[in-house]
Amino acid sequence: MKITSAVLLFAGLTTAAPTDEGKACPPPAHLKYHITNFSAAKGHMSGYCRYEFDVAGPRMATPKPAHCTAYVDAGFSGATWLALVWNGTCDNDAVKWTFSDPVDPSGDALFQVSINNITGNYTVPAKDITVWLNDEPNPFDNDVAYTGPKEFYITEF
Ligand SMILES: *[C@@H]1O[C@H](CO)[C@@H](O)[C@H](O)[C@H]1NC(C)=O
Ligand SMILES: *[C@@H]1O[C@H](CO)[C@@H](O)[C@H](O)[C@H]1NC(C)=O
Ligand SMILES: *[C@@H]1O[C@H](CO)[C@@H](O)[C@H](O)[C@H]1NC(C)=O
Ligand SMILES: *[C@@H]1O[C@H](CO)[C@@H](O)[C@H](O)[C@H]1NC(C)=O
Repeated sequence: MKITSAVLLFAGLTTAAPTDEGKACPPPAHLKYHITNFSAAKGHMSGYCRYEFDVAGPRMATPKPAHCTAYVDAGFSGATWLALVWNGTCDNDAVKWTFSDPVDPSGDALFQVSINNITGNYTVPAKDITVWLNDEPNPFDNDVAYTGPKEFYITEF
């Protein structure tokens, strides 16, 4: 009886392995990354933008969401865009991210999160990034901030 179940278990494992490998590429259907507490803003009278969010998704070694931050320069304090992040990191090495907001304020931004090299795209609509032209003739103190939902899912892979 014992021998029979061991053989069945072994048989189950050998047939399961190729199936799992097949699923790793392309990404499985219904894959999504859960973003919470997303914030991004340029400091007043500063070109520097601070980004912060948490992300949870499958294939992370721990169920704890990764905490991600960046502090980067948008170029000058009058910028009407959020600074480009091309090498975003988190407290979990499996997670990388980018954020690219066009200089043209009517354009959408692209937020990409990669977990174990599986990259998801999230389009940030231009309307979710608010620009305050505090002093148009001398716009060195423009404020820019992400004002969309703090929680959303990335579903495009
Ligand atoms: C969001 O941030 C707040 C305070 O920084 C924290 O108390 C809360 O647990 C966070 N929520 C999530 C879902 O990470
Ligand atoms: C990421 O890029 C920023 C500039 O965009 C730079 O200041 C920072 O040192 C870079 N970090 C790493 C880990 O390469
Ligand atoms: C992700 O891709 C990079 C660059 O192609 C590679 O060096 C790294 O080993 C990959 N990581 C995983 C977990 O596949
Ligand atoms: C994600 O965005 C990049 C850069 O625009 C693009 O090359 C890629 O095709 C996009 N992937 C998906 C699934 O939309």
